Amino acid sequence: MPDSPEVAELTWLDPSRPVPDVRTPLPGPRARAVYERDQRVTSPSLPRAYPLMPARASGAVIEDTDGNLFLDFNAGIAVNSTGHCHPRVVAAIQRQAAALLHYSASDFYLPIYSEMCEALAETAPMPGPVRVFLTNSGAEAVEGALKLARYATGRPNVLAFFGAFHGRTYGAVTLTASKTKYHQGFGPLLPGVFHAPYACNRVDPVTGARSHDPEETFDYLENVLFRYEVSPTEVAAIFVEPIQGEGGYIIPPPEWLTRLRQLCDRHGILLVADEVQSGMGRTGRMWAIEHAGVTPDVVISAKGLASGLPLGAFMARADLMERWTAGAHGSTYGGSPVPCAAGLATLEVIKSEGLLANAAEQGETLLAGLREMHATYPGLITDVRGTGLMIGIEFRTAEQAEEVQRQAFERGLLVLECGESSIRGLAAPGHYEGAGQRGASAAGRGAAGRRWLTGGDEPIAGPADDRDEPDQPRPAVLLPGSASRRASRVPASVVDRVACGDLASARHEWGPAALDTQIVARSLTPSRSPADSGGRVFSELP
Ligand SMILES: Cc1ncc(COP(=O)(O)O)c(C=O)c1O
Repeated sequence: MPDSPEVAELTWLDPSRPVPDVRTPLPGPRARAVYERDQRVTSPSLPRAYPLMPARASGAVIEDTDGNLFLDFNAGIAVNSTGHCHPRVVAAIQRQAAALLHYSASDFYLPIYSEMCEALAETAPMPGPVRVFLTNSGAEAVEGALKLARYATGRPNVLAFFGAFHGRTYGAVTLTASKTKYHQGFGPLLPGVFHAPYACNRVDPVTGARSHDPEETFDYLENVLFRYEVSPTEVAAIFVEPIQGEGGYIIPPPEWLTRLRQLCDRHGILLVADEVQSGMGRTGRMWAIEHAGVTPDVVISAKGLASGLPLGAFMARADLMERWTAGAHGSTYGGSPVPCAAGLATLEVIKSEGLLANAAEQGETLLAGLREMHATYPGLITDVRGTGLMIGIEFRTAEQAEEVQRQAFERGLLVLECGESSIRGLAAPGHYEGAGQRGASAAGRGAAGRRWLTGGDEPIAGPADDRDEPDQPRPAVLLPGSASRRASRVPASVVDRVACGDLASARHEWGPAALDTQIVARSLTPSRSPADSGGRVFSELP
């Protein structure tokens, strides 16, 4: 809640403007200048999704360099767990920056470092004492956990899963197996890493069959890998995302994680839960593995841990971490004071503002609406799945998913692809009054909010809707990968609802307690019949 003078400075959103509100072609003139400069100096390896140039943000609202307002369902790619620039997080950062910017916790005793470790350990999904190591990123935390697993067990090998994403540094990228492009050209990778099939709980876009046969994994591990390639007595750890993120928002059946735990126990293997994307309340529990009631030995976190400042962590059973000695592992910046201040404020906000319950409640609402859409458009959407606010919508083809992503952007809603043909909904579990709410209040009074309330069919954002007429020329400047996917046009009505910016507006406008599931579900469901749609959108259905 706004509780300090700094908070007032965050209320820059004009309350009379609706959200989203896209007023220029995308990218706009200033964004084009950013694009041109960027193209000259940045690494071409950066995988930009679309030409968004954020200038400032608040809650779920982003303003770009040209003054366009977007609803951010990317949450900074699962980072802004408390929404953008949560006033309490910003105030904590400002206070800490004025007091002490840096001192290395590796070489000295930094009070806020131990405070952060203590607060995080309190959330650990394992019983007994826990110790924590703080890092600068998810990949660095994965590397640390990998080193700890080998060191603490004295075993050389580790396992991970097909579809997994664990980061891009050498150890982490070796564990990653979501796309070959992450390995291509970088070999040889880290030795001693093996992969097995994940419990791929999704509907196959081609056959329509739901596959979630947990047997496949265990059959492969026990009867192939452990029989022909590597002895389980030489496996230090199994790295698993309790919900696969970049791999496509795949949710394994809970019993699969239980069996994985049992397998680890049978062979003395550590179970390492990579919660970099699924953790910090996004699924309605602090850690996604809690949904399965499974106890890991090590948990890895980053992304949402400090609401946007670089902070990662791995926490382990104390008896494991106590096996390595001084100098075995360290980091100059890991757990620096300002990220720690942001991390402490983030944990505090998650607790005091009921964000776990909020994520669970909003996720249910969103899923209910998306499931209705799935039923309405089975030829386009092949699967909708999610836990809390970690929700994936799978389309028949990658081109359709990319087209929805692009059209959503042009309408002012930010979503991102994942897996082969899915879009992820990553709305921040956080909501709060103050800066974000003022903008969202405006959204509630605007066209989007009215439609949300009434189920009527005013355009989601007037100017953007005009540009979305199928035959309208598209912006000349698009980042690589975005320009070529016009062939499979997705119905505008589907984009409107998949984008479901209405829900985010409502969430900010009234808070979770006031949300009416029925109204939200209705707003996410096409309200126009083919007959009264003018033939524009429905005629394009496959
Ligand atoms: C599950 C998971 N682990 C690790 C990482 C790597 O995190 P970072 O990009 O901070 O290195 C990611 C990033 O997307 C992730 O999703």
